[in-house]
Amino acid sequence: MNIFKLKSELKAFLSLQRKEGKTIGFVPTMGALHEGHLSLIKRAKKKNDLVVVSIFVNPTQFDNKQDLEKYPQPLDNDIQLLTKIECDVLFTPSVKEIYSDTVVSQKFDFDGLEFQMEGKFRDGHFDGVGTIVKAFFEIVEPDTAYFGRKDFQQLQIIKKLVEKYNIPVKVKGRPIFREEDGLAMSSRNTRLSEEHRKVAPFIYKTLKKAKRKFGMKDVEELTQWVEKKFRKQELLRLEYFTIADEKTLKTPESIESGIRYRAFIAVFAGDIRLIDNIGLQ
Ligand code: PAF
Repeated sequence: MNIFKLKSELKAFLSLQRKEGKTIGFVPTMGALHEGHLSLIKRAKKKNDLVVVSIFVNPTQFDNKQDLEKYPQPLDNDIQLLTKIECDVLFTPSVKEIYSDTVVSQKFDFDGLEFQMEGKFRDGHFDGVGTIVKAFFEIVEPDTAYFGRKDFQQLQIIKKLVEKYNIPVKVKGRPIFREEDGLAMSSRNTRLSEEHRKVAPFIYKTLKKAKRKFGMKDVEELTQWVEKKFRKQELLRLEYFTIADEKTLKTPESIESGIRYRAFIAVFAGDIRLIDNIGLQ
């Protein structure tokens, strides 16, 4: 596997590959790789001649300093995993290489997608995500980029970014990977205490139950039902449960046929924030 820390060296390498007619698949990550990431990389490998993975803990998308400081960074282990699945290129730039001396994000207008759910609770998060993903797309110039649907709102925002800035990259969303007990895979799961890890599958269990009830209860009732369930769970604190139109990410007043809806959830297990979602049709 080729490992690059500098934009210029990565760009020079990729430009040669492109001249040879190779297609490039790109999987941006913040490291602490798990099966979910690996499945994106395997997919990218299958569909492209060359795969680039980035590992970069992007400071501008963290609204919480502690979350940034404690974000797991097991780089040696990640490199081993990437080597094992024969990833072609790893890009691990420093913060300075990406941001020079001003670690700030660009401001974006994502047609309102940025004000829903995560946007309400994580100030500036999507400006940070937009800034880094746009920068990486400009450096890597991939044909296709792959993102997990666990961050469904992020996926929709990146699709919007590409559309608004006419960036010539296909953005593909891929299924959520789960632990055997249903907990959505996340790099943050490694930071859960034993007791929080034990209770965390309640999140997905409740999403599945909500899905079964969708159509039988109205949106408001179903939301209240989930909120009540979480009030009884001492170890988990619900931040939000929202049913939204997959395209606009807005909560509907009433359910219309022909529109795809999804339920989104954010929960604190101790000081670890977990998110998940489920398609309702
Ligand atoms: O989903 C993530 O891990 C990050 O938000 C991303 C897309 C790599 C940007 O930093």
